[in-house]
Amino acid sequence: MAIAKAEPAAAELVAAECVVLAETKDHQNWELIGRVADQGGPHAKVLKAAHDAVEEDEDHHLYHTMGWCRELWIQSLGMPAVLPPPEEERKVETAIGAARAEHARDDYL
Ligand SMILES: [Fe+2]
Repeated sequence: MAIAKAEPAAAELVAAECVVLAETKDHQNWELIGRVADQGGPHAKVLKAAHDAVEEDEDHHLYHTMGWCRELWIQSLGMPAVLPPPEEERKVETAIGAARAEHARDDYL
């Protein structure tokens, strides 16, 4: 819909927002699966294995997507953007790493 109704840059922002929303929920769901696995019970072993297999990837998806979305918005507001975002350059995998990358974005301008 955004591609049909908006300029490409605006459609790109809509896409970025949609991915951030999806990855935020994805991240939360996997965190909850990990918590359920930690409770034990008949399915704990399989849930723990699944959680361990994807947790790092899900962190990566969320933090990198947030970085892309932030920088695309900054660009759309006419300010210098860091593209690709520092989260990509630093290969961020954790929340604290994402916070550090965002804090250091001026170093990448
Ligand atoms: Fe994901």
